[in-house]
Amino acid sequence: VFIPLRGDEWRVFVFVLAFCLCNCFLPSTTIWKQGSTARLQCTVKGSPELHSTWFLNNSELSTGGRHAVGLKDGVATLEIHDVLLTDSGNYTCEVLNECGCESCSIKVTVKGVSKPPSFRKELLSTEAVRGSVAVLECEIAGSAPLEVSWKKNKKRLSSDKKYSIVSQGSLASLEIQSFESADTGEYECVVSNEVGSATSKSVLKQKEPARILEKAASISVTAGDSATLECTVSGSPELKVKWFKDGKEMIGGRKYKIAVKENTAILKILAADKGDTSEYKMEVSNKVGKDECTCSVTVIGRF
Ligand SMILES: *[C@@H]1O[C@H](CO)[C@@H](O)[C@H](O)[C@H]1NC(C)=O
Ligand SMILES: *[C@@H]1O[C@H](CO)[C@@H](O)[C@H](O)[C@H]1NC(C)=O
Repeated sequence: VFIPLRGDEWRVFVFVLAFCLCNCFLPSTTIWKQGSTARLQCTVKGSPELHSTWFLNNSELSTGGRHAVGLKDGVATLEIHDVLLTDSGNYTCEVLNECGCESCSIKVTVKGVSKPPSFRKELLSTEAVRGSVAVLECEIAGSAPLEVSWKKNKKRLSSDKKYSIVSQGSLASLEIQSFESADTGEYECVVSNEVGSATSKSVLKQKEPARILEKAASISVTAGDSATLECTVSGSPELKVKWFKDGKEMIGGRKYKIAVKENTAILKILAADKGDTSEYKMEVSNKVGKDECTCSVTVIGRF
């Protein structure tokens, strides 16, 4: 700036306007993933930088542990390894140079890594009693929020008079009111969250009453031989089988062997004698039904 004095005298003022910008740049927000390595870079423009400092919510960060800080060629760097959820906050880079101090901040949010849904306990295939409440239950796991839906024969169910869909903590259940044969079928529990879904399946059947499919045949045996009576039975477990002789329940032991193998009820009379000639009754039962049949054993000859 020239200021005229007298004649051709001038006073010259020279203002030294050093190019002394001291700006740093950071985006305003960012998201880090839990477990990853995160890096923040603050670009410093201006006269040579002297020093840079990083802060998280106003407490200083320095190299050590999971943190590393650096300053090189106008770039201040903060590196954080193995990012934790608690690393969320307001990060500030403060740069000091001849001109003074400048800072910039960034808001960091650490996002947890979501776990896909899974079943801690799968649905079990079960048999239900007609007229009762049938309950299907499973235990689910995974990152919240978890969405649970139920399907029967691939068709989605909703809560109504027939179905109650219940979720309590990690337990998910479906209650079917007054079970009937139309309620038999394949049921699915589908659990989903933002990263995936999982399905557990079960088959729901109606408890079948105990029944005799094939009666024991009446037989003749020679004294001293063994006599075997066999009937084929069916029905949902548990099946109870009882044999009677002359109206009295028989007890397995030395003389009589009583067994149920696969679906066959067996009574074996060892070393039959005259006294074993009789009518025999077999009774099979379970929770939902009962059936019975009779046959005879004739022991012949050589007494
Ligand atoms: C920093 O402050 C934010 C906002 O107040 C808070 O959510 C976060 O937990 C703080 N982080 C640390 C490490 O103190
Ligand atoms: C972050 O911290 C800086 C320095 O303390 C402050 O100026 C800024 O407002 C803070 N930002 C947020 C989002 O809290």
